[in-house]
Amino acid sequence: MFEHQPTSRWIAVEEYLTAVVVQPDDSLRHAAAAALDAGMPPIEVAPNAGKLLKLLVQLSGARRVLEIGTLAGFSTIWMAQGLPDGGRLITCEYVPRHAKVARSNLDLAGLGHLVEIRVGAALDTLSELESEGAEPFDFVFIDADKENNPRYLDWAIRLGRPGTTVVMDNVVWEGAVLEPALDPVNAPGIVAALQLMREDPRLDATVIQTVGSKGWDGFALARVR
Ligand code: SAH
Ligand code: DHB
Ligand code: MG
Repeated sequence: MFEHQPTSRWIAVEEYLTAVVVQPDDSLRHAAAAALDAGMPPIEVAPNAGKLLKLLVQLSGARRVLEIGTLAGFSTIWMAQGLPDGGRLITCEYVPRHAKVARSNLDLAGLGHLVEIRVGAALDTLSELESEGAEPFDFVFIDADKENNPRYLDWAIRLGRPGTTVVMDNVVWEGAVLEPALDPVNAPGIVAALQLMREDPRLDATVIQTVGSKGWDGFALARVR
């Protein structure tokens, strides 16, 4: 029974859970639709994962959130919805057109005043943040080019503090972590970041596998020691 069309059943269950429990608001539904209209790939986090990001921001008491990889701002809206009054979210995006769509989605969501979108290669933005002496981030979501995952993880620690929460998306990558040759561009960076989570004494981490509308994947949850 479980072998029969698991993918469509996983998606059907995800849709049920989204409707019954997750309940994305109009601004989130609009953001996902606007991304499709703009021809962007449907690679935003699933609604149940977005809701988890919001809850993790709230549970960790985060006031300052850093995101690497904005796309249309779908995950950005979820996390900003978890911020307290006076909270701040800085999100890094390489593609100006993505940043423009995200800005419009965030403004429509009534969250624009909490969010700064920095356009450019994230590695440049991250070193700028350090030079500017930015206050430590309480929560970091890594979800951009997977080749740079180990570098983004190092930056998350450097721009964080003991106790900072780090979430890294897409760390199972349809199982390619067991066979990096399946995707020589992205898989090695994902595997290297997972190894850092084990080896770097500044991190304590786990990984949750996921299935559903975004295929077979997973996210890492780490705490800076
Ligand atoms: N977090 C989003 C999805 C991000 S998709 C969500 O869940 O809604 C990945 C994004 O990272 C894309 O918009 C891509 O343009 C951006 N990106 C890729 N390489 C980048 C880089 N070097 N610096 C900053 N952003 C990058
Ligand atoms: C891709 C990127 C993502 O962040 C994601 O969640 C899914 C897919 C991609 O580049 O294909
Ligand atoms: Mg992702």
